[in-house]
Amino acid sequence: MPRSKKPCEKELLERALRLVSDHVGEIGGAAASAAVKILRAAADRAGGERNFRRRARIIVLFADLAGYTPYSEATDAEEVSAFVGGLWEHLDHLVHAAGGRVLQHFGDAILAVWGDETAREDDAERALECAAAILGTVPAYIQACGLEAGKTAPPGMRVGIHAGPAFVGEIGSVGEYAVLGDTVNAAARLQTAATPGQTVFSEAVLRLLKYPPVVRELPPLALKGKTEAIKAYTIAKREECARESASYGPTLRPARSGRKTALQESSMVGREQELRALSGLFEGIAAHGLARTALVLGDAGIGKSRLIAEFLSRLPVGTGIIVASARETARDSPNAFLRSIIGREADILDSDPGDMATAKLVSHAEAIGLEKGIARAFARFLGYEGPAETACVPIDEKRGLTSEGGYALLAAYLRARSRETTLVITLEDMTWADAASRSAIEDALESLSETPILALLASREETEFRSADARIRLDSLPSKEAAALASSLLEGLSPIPSELLEFSLSRAEGNPYFIEECVRFLFDRGAVDRSASPWAYDARKLPKKGVPLALADLLQARLDALEPADRGILETASVFGRVFWLSALSARGRPGGRAAHSNPRKRLEALAERGLVLKNPASTVAGTEEWCFAHNLLRDVAYDRVLKSDRPELHERAARWLLDHLGSSAAREAAVIAEHFAHAGRPSDAAGLFAAAGDMADRVGDPRAAARLYKRALDSESLPPAAKTRIAQRLAGEL
Ligand SMILES: Nc1ncnc2c1ncn2[C@@H]1O[C@H](COP(=O)(O)OP(=O)(O)OP(=O)(O)O)[C@@H](O)[C@H]1O
Ligand SMILES: [Mg+2]
Repeated sequence: MPRSKKPCEKELLERALRLVSDHVGEIGGAAASAAVKILRAAADRAGGERNFRRRARIIVLFADLAGYTPYSEATDAEEVSAFVGGLWEHLDHLVHAAGGRVLQHFGDAILAVWGDETAREDDAERALECAAAILGTVPAYIQACGLEAGKTAPPGMRVGIHAGPAFVGEIGSVGEYAVLGDTVNAAARLQTAATPGQTVFSEAVLRLLKYPPVVRELPPLALKGKTEAIKAYTIAKREECARESASYGPTLRPARSGRKTALQESSMVGREQELRALSGLFEGIAAHGLARTALVLGDAGIGKSRLIAEFLSRLPVGTGIIVASARETARDSPNAFLRSIIGREADILDSDPGDMATAKLVSHAEAIGLEKGIARAFARFLGYEGPAETACVPIDEKRGLTSEGGYALLAAYLRARSRETTLVITLEDMTWADAASRSAIEDALESLSETPILALLASREETEFRSADARIRLDSLPSKEAAALASSLLEGLSPIPSELLEFSLSRAEGNPYFIEECVRFLFDRGAVDRSASPWAYDARKLPKKGVPLALADLLQARLDALEPADRGILETASVFGRVFWLSALSARGRPGGRAAHSNPRKRLEALAERGLVLKNPASTVAGTEEWCFAHNLLRDVAYDRVLKSDRPELHERAARWLLDHLGSSAAREAAVIAEHFAHAGRPSDAAGLFAAAGDMADRVGDPRAAARLYKRALDSESLPPAAKTRIAQRLAGEL
């Protein structure tokens, strides 16, 4: 390919374009998208000696609106063009934000590519993220256009993604930029195999993913003129993810791509008796159709989540599964835990505006045979729709739900879910469940005694739960099993030197997480080199002295050993809690404050290799990746490290990022954001949000939380007088 020595105008524009699209997060979504659009148009217009023509390995994304033809036939052309114009703009924005190039629009469809100019190692990830953003936001766009699902509204986008070689370059008499070849045809074919709201991608794409999601294989697709069919996949539904569930913690599972990482799972050891107890409960439920609740109790890191994951993975195919974990940061946010449980099931994101969240809940309800009216009432109770008159919503008496209140809505939901199949619902980190969710769960389970549901509630603390039928308390692993766990983590060494086992077991006292961290400490220090095969052991690097005796201190030592920039990332992340978002790390702070982190994704990937963080398979905030600390304790230790003097700035940054990214849905999470502002030393910003959170608590029928949140709002002098009076009146007796 002929290239001039000096970069031509086109090349300079392309460079600028790449720079901007690589830093979308720092610049801010809308501004970056506008800049990308202008640069893209300028680059495409700019002549240059460079007549770009080459073969490249690219990722192609094809997205098309299902049901467009009947819609366009039934609708006035002017209206259709306004709808399509807005849709193009929206899709272009999403492609640019993910660093791709929009190649063409045809009617309702869009063709986008990654890697045509310069290949990035995460192009496939970017294309999949773009697909998720398309599927996650187009329904809102359709709704915002005032179209009604099932009538005039097209039912949703279908996306196909393929990776492979193609010709890219300018062709024809007008030098039109084009991407040609089988790869493009295959992407189009994959798209036709998708159902509305689904992405179908090829094996070639799957192989490129560093952190592959849990996938479901679809029947292979034949291609015109080709003898070989292509293997097609889609992202597994949440339920399938739960079943696969190597997932300990919020929503996560380590990568299972065959790469050896520090996160590679340990083999499950012991806990047979506990597993038998859980199986016994499950069989009883399946046989008698009665509900049972079991508490799984034990110290941090003892293996509650792992036990549950193991149990879930053994359940018969077809069992309904709901999994969720409460978040420490949302413990004062009314109904936050219930929102996260139901949100996962109905594919509702934290950032979905209320009407979209409600629409998703209603369509999920339809799919499980729950009445629309109940779904709407549930949406109000959860805080998606509002302001509602009251949380006390009369429920359909024919179903025997005579009581009023949120728990009955939850019970109706669970009953619908368990109509066709036995349902297992596992709720972890119950210690942090907000009070409103906790009591709704407790009451709902109690009222469902004749429904085939097994509820497993995990908690560190001894906890009272009225409906509990069994308590499963996890103790330290016996020494033989602890040794088996350490051996499985060191299995790449052959033989395993006894001093390494001794090192890992002597201080951990049978706590599996502690054992894992001791082994990772050895990896960090270079005592074990995992790049060799078999692994190599360097006895000189086995720490002899000064190794911390407590788990928190060991974690601290592991963080101390990191490069300052990596540690900085973890500290910023820890302010959000166990779960955090990629673009929050590259967001700018106060002027003159800490700089944004550079290249956060690369750093997170390196931290993931060390077993410190994990990427969640799906994000609860649209348009950005979700990551989390590998363990709750690690997050706490990382947060403890943040200098007291840095905390206000980081909390303020977190609050502002949440406000920006949650948009209108920020009101639902007002308590969380208010808390960040309070930590940031900005009581005036916190006050209004505490008041909003109090209103929300009031609305969902949690007067105690409402009173607590209102009091915090009143603590600030800066609340407007009218709001002060209103709140004072509420507090004076009506609550
Ligand atoms: N029986 C086991 N066999 C193998 N590994 C285990 C076992 N139990 C726990 N682990 C490992 O130990 C680590 C901590 O376990 P887990 O996350 O289940 O703890 P937990 O009790 O849920 O802690 P927390 O209270 O903080 O949520 C995990 O990485 C897990 O894989
Ligand atoms: Mg756990």
